[in-house]
Amino acid sequence: MEILEFLDKSPDDHRVLEMFVEVLESIRNRHNEVVPTMAQGIIEFKDAFGQQDAVTDHNIQYFLDRFYTSRISIRMLINQHTLVFNGNTNPAHPNTIGCIDSICDVPDVARDAYESAKLLCEQYYLGAPELELRQMNANNSRELIHISYVPSHLYHMLFELFKNAMRATIENHVASSTLPPIKVIVALGGEDLSIKMSDRGGGVPFRKTERLFSYMYSTAPRPSIGDKHRAPLAGFGYGLPISRLYTRYFQGDLKLYSMEGHGTDAVIHLKALSTDSVERLPVFNKTALRQYKLSLEADDWCVPSKEPLDLAVYRASK
Ligand SMILES: Nc1ncnc2c1ncn2[C@@H]1O[C@H](COP(=O)(O)OP(=O)(O)O)[C@@H](O)[C@H]1O
Ligand SMILES: [Mg+2]
Repeated sequence: MEILEFLDKSPDDHRVLEMFVEVLESIRNRHNEVVPTMAQGIIEFKDAFGQQDAVTDHNIQYFLDRFYTSRISIRMLINQHTLVFNGNTNPAHPNTIGCIDSICDVPDVARDAYESAKLLCEQYYLGAPELELRQMNANNSRELIHISYVPSHLYHMLFELFKNAMRATIENHVASSTLPPIKVIVALGGEDLSIKMSDRGGGVPFRKTERLFSYMYSTAPRPSIGDKHRAPLAGFGYGLPISRLYTRYFQGDLKLYSMEGHGTDAVIHLKALSTDSVERLPVFNKTALRQYKLSLEADDWCVPSKEPLDLAVYRASK
């Protein structure tokens, strides 16, 4: 409604344009805390209603994925408009238009994200694994790797992956004096730009890998929501699902391959060509509505349970 107010105002009037930018900025700032607020909502929901059935879990996941994708898109549009209309050009980045960098230096963003995660990790664990970064440009082995992308999105995903890899590495090596490094490889092909991050943090069982992308799942102790001065290293369980949304927003994806007992590879796939990186947005129609009306039907495979049988509980119930 605030934006619609401007429909009948002249876009040639400078004063109107300034006011429009101000309105956009206030809308953006008003919604800064949406992610932690929603996370708190989920926590309270879990506390009040306990473990949910698969249908409710699916509905929450479906809703939040689409809700946050819209949010990413709206904020990207607002940022783009305010940056361009405020005339904020950064002399250090002449190729940046608003929040889009036409030659985004991917390994550089990875190093930045590593350094921030390392600082945070050192605060918690008094140490952090090293980074080993390699790059492969299949198109031209001597050229550096860059794509047209939103560096802040890339930074966000890599920062989340680094925090996870660091936490897993350290918690899996409490008894040893050295930490295995986190290995990152950035590869550019004709169609994809992929970033693989490998840790030796012990991995997770294959059965659980999809669950890691749930908004309801974290194995970290719950951080306190009011503590704004100390950013938590983990705990809301939002790192992976939101990072995956960022990749999918421009037609990419995020995959996790884990080898329990060894470590995890997290792979970000992005489109190498800006012409392929088109926005992916949710549509609200009958098909979407039907998603919420799925019911739990009988399995069409005869395996009765996806969980391993806990024999003690099983015997006790007999
Ligand atoms: N590299 C990894 N190695 C082992 N476990 C991981 C790794 N990355 C994520 N996980 C598991 O997935 C869970 C969810 O991760 P994430 O979505 O980032 O939320 P959070 O880090 O806040 O718990 C973590 O709590 C952890 O148990
Ligand atoms: Mg995390």
